[in-house]
Amino acid sequence: MSILDNIKVACCQISNLLTSGNCLQLGSKISVNNSCGDEVKKLDVLSNDIMKEALLNHPDIRAIGSEEDEDIIYTENKDGKYFVSFDPLDGSSNIKFNISVGTIFCVFEYIDGQIESGRNIVMAGYAIYGFNTLLVTTTDNGLDIYLLNNNRFEKISEGYRMPISGNIYAINESNKYRWLDNRIQKYVDLLINDKKTVRWIGCMVTDVHRTLIKGGLFAYPLDSKSPNGRLRLIYEAYPMAYIFQCAGGYSSNENKNILDIKFPEDIHSRTSVMLFSKKEYEQFCTF
Ligand code: AHG
Ligand code: MN
Ligand code: MN
Repeated sequence: MSILDNIKVACCQISNLLTSGNCLQLGSKISVNNSCGDEVKKLDVLSNDIMKEALLNHPDIRAIGSEEDEDIIYTENKDGKYFVSFDPLDGSSNIKFNISVGTIFCVFEYIDGQIESGRNIVMAGYAIYGFNTLLVTTTDNGLDIYLLNNNRFEKISEGYRMPISGNIYAINESNKYRWLDNRIQKYVDLLINDKKTVRWIGCMVTDVHRTLIKGGLFAYPLDSKSPNGRLRLIYEAYPMAYIFQCAGGYSSNENKNILDIKFPEDIHSRTSVMLFSKKEYEQFCTF
């Protein structure tokens, strides 16, 4: 079985937990916080166990890095070619409200025993658990989209590319007085002048998925509350930046392409994230 096959099994299990479980219980808080200092919900822990079970025994995987584990975990396969990072359950503050959540994953290839940056990524994707469970994965030619039906993922779209522009921007605008770079406010004002409208679910997977389907912007810039960024590089920013690139979109950490950021020492290291369709990226570049 390929790494993707194992991830499909895990995402199917997480989806079944969500549809058969009680969202108030799955979204209940567990007493300890994780290494990022975030509140951990019951479903975060269950999803992490499922992802680890699916990946740790795969013969091609040398190591894994999860949001819910302190450090990288090495497998028995010292010669495995790949490192897999994942956010087992993204958007966990939404669970108890029965709002879509997701799983994000990213496969890196070791080159001469090293991972230098997001340029080592060979595949990334996410599952989105809404009234449909979808799996979106990168290919050499755009994105593949699968629908979960009777515990099997059926491909419903092949080689998907995002629109070149869209009329929605996704940003937590309540942070606007705290944004560190004043270009962000000017850029958002430009989007508003362009008659764009805002949507913010608070689940990166869901907000990104809408941006990929509709076009537009997803951003979580640096602010004084999170001066190093809110989102995590290896299991949130890198995979989404790679997915956007494969879909014909663009990424930035306010300075450069997210894929060019050096692979961090700390697997929970954070970054600013901006993901655009083509026209929105070109507008941003004029600043
Ligand atoms: P997680 O549930 O894995 O910790 O991630 C939550 C992230 C991301 O999904 C979302 O974009 C962001 O947090 C929302 O942040 P705000 O609550 O500050 O809007
Ligand atoms: Mn997350
Ligand atoms: Mn998470």
